[in-house]
Amino acid sequence: MRPHDTVIYQIDPRLFRDANGHGWGTLDGITEKLDYLAWLGATVIWLLPFYRSGDRDGGYDVVDHCAIDPRLGDEASFDRLVRAAERRGLRVVTELVMQHTSDRHPWFQAAQRDRKSPYRDYYIWRDQPEADGSKPIFPPIESGVWRWDAIAGQYYRHRFYAHEPDLELATPQVREEARRIMRHWLDRGVAGFRVDAIPYMVERAARADPEDGGRWLLREMNAEARRARSDPVLIGEADIAAGEYGTYLDDGRRLTHVLDFHLNNHLFLVLARQDASELARTLAEYGEDAPAARRVAWLRNNDELDLEQLSPEERKEVMDAFAPEPWMQLYHRGIRRRLAPMLDGDPQRISMTHALLFSLGQIPVLRFGDEIGVGDELEFPERESGRTPMQWHAGTHAGFTDGPAPWRKPIAGGRYGYERLNVRAQRQQNDSLLSRIRRLLHARRHCEALSQAPRIVDVGNRAVFAALFEHNGSRLLALVNVSADAQRIALPGGSGDFQVELASDVDFPDPASARLSAYGYAWLSA
Ligand code: GLC
Repeated sequence: MRPHDTVIYQIDPRLFRDANGHGWGTLDGITEKLDYLAWLGATVIWLLPFYRSGDRDGGYDVVDHCAIDPRLGDEASFDRLVRAAERRGLRVVTELVMQHTSDRHPWFQAAQRDRKSPYRDYYIWRDQPEADGSKPIFPPIESGVWRWDAIAGQYYRHRFYAHEPDLELATPQVREEARRIMRHWLDRGVAGFRVDAIPYMVERAARADPEDGGRWLLREMNAEARRARSDPVLIGEADIAAGEYGTYLDDGRRLTHVLDFHLNNHLFLVLARQDASELARTLAEYGEDAPAARRVAWLRNNDELDLEQLSPEERKEVMDAFAPEPWMQLYHRGIRRRLAPMLDGDPQRISMTHALLFSLGQIPVLRFGDEIGVGDELEFPERESGRTPMQWHAGTHAGFTDGPAPWRKPIAGGRYGYERLNVRAQRQQNDSLLSRIRRLLHARRHCEALSQAPRIVDVGNRAVFAALFEHNGSRLLALVNVSADAQRIALPGGSGDFQVELASDVDFPDPASARLSAYGYAWLSA
C-alpha cells in the first residue's frame, strides 16, 4: 500500500446499503455500491464486523468468528463482494477481534460450565479480582475489569464490556484459533486485517513468554498471513505513545501498519487552535522505525474521538472547541460527535481537514459518510451517535433500504437530513464536499511524491501547514490554512518555481499571490 494511491474506506456493513429490503445493510448492498467507491477513489474497503455477534458492541462482541451474521449476508454474498471488488482494483480488509469474545460465544459457555473443559484456559479466571491497576475501557459504564460469574464460580476478566470476556492469548490453543480464523478469511480472498485492541493481546502474550514484551505474538500472526499472501495487511489498533509504534512494526515483520492515534489527536488540537505549528512537533516524535508510510491516519472512525494522546490541558482545548456540552463527550476522554457537526457543516472547512489529512505522507482512512458530511444523533447512547445509515439520495429512507423498515433510521430533517444532504445531490454540484474530496483523492493519485515522508517548511505563518515532499527530483509543496482567516505566506525558493496541481481557491492559480483564503489549501509542484 503506497500512501499516494491508497485510500481506505471504512464501512459498517449494517448501515451502508440494504440490497434485499429487509432493513439491515448487507454485503450485497456493498457490492452494489462498489462503482461509487471506485469513482470516489477508494482502493481498500475496511469492513467493520459482519460476524455472528451478541449485538451489544457494534458486532465486536463476536459469537462466531467465521460465520456471517445472517441478516447481513452469507458466504456466497461475501465471495461475490470480494470478487467484484477485485475486478475494480479494490482490496478488502476485515476485522480480527481476538482480544475478547462475546459471553455468548460457545467457547465461553463451555468454559463457564466446566473447570476441566479445554476452553476454560481460553479465558482469564480468578477466585478474587486481581488488583493490577488495569482500568476498564468504557468508564463509567463499566467500573472494573472483573466480573463474578455464578455459573463458573469464579471471576473473569474483561477490559471492555462485562459481556466481552478477555481471551487468554498466553494459551497456545487461543493463538492457534486466531491463526485458524486468519486462514479462513485469507482463503476467502481478504487482503488482511484490522487487528482489534492489539496492545492488550500483546500484554497477555507476554505472560506466556516475556520476550519482546509479548510482541512475538505479532510475528506469529504475520507469518501466518504471509503463508496465504505475499503482501498481507495487518493494521493494528494501538492507542499507544508514538515512540512505541516502531516496536509494533519491526519494519513490517510484526504489524504492517499502525492506526496513528497520536496524530489523530494532534490534528484536532491543530484544528482547535487554528494553529498548525503543533504538527511540526508531532511529526518529529516518530522514530525512523515508524515511517509515515506505515502509519494510517483518519479524522473520525466508528468510535468516540478518543483524546488520550493529549495532555489534560490540550484535551480541554479540543473539548472546548468541539464538544463543549457534557452530552457530546464520552468515557471521560472523548467526543462522540461526527466530523461534520464538529466543523459546523462547512464544506470548505471539512475539505480543508481532508486536505490536511492527505498531506502527511500517511495512508488515509475515510469513514463512510464523511465524504458528504453526514451528521450525528446525540440522543443515541454512547458511540451509537455516530452510527447512522449512509445517505444515498433524497428518496425513501435515504436509499439505505428499499424496504419499509430500516433497523436504524437515516438522519432526517434539518441541515444534516438526507432530504438535503446525500450522495446524489452532491455528485451534481461541483463545489459540494463530495466533489472536493474526490478531486483531492484523484489529484493525490498523480502526486507520487505524497508517498514520501514530508519535510515541514517555514512559510512564516503559524496558521498554515506547509510540507515539502521530494521524489525522483520532483517536488510537491502542500499548503493548508487551518484558520478561519485568509493568510499570507512566503513561499520557499520563490513563487515562480511552482505550478498548481490542485487548489481549493479559484483565485489561487497564481502562486505569486502568496495568499490562502480562509480554510484554503493547495498542492503545488515543481
Ligand atoms: C475497537 C472497536 C470498538 C470496540 C472495541 C472492543 O476499539 O473499534 O468499537 O468497542 O474494539 O472490541
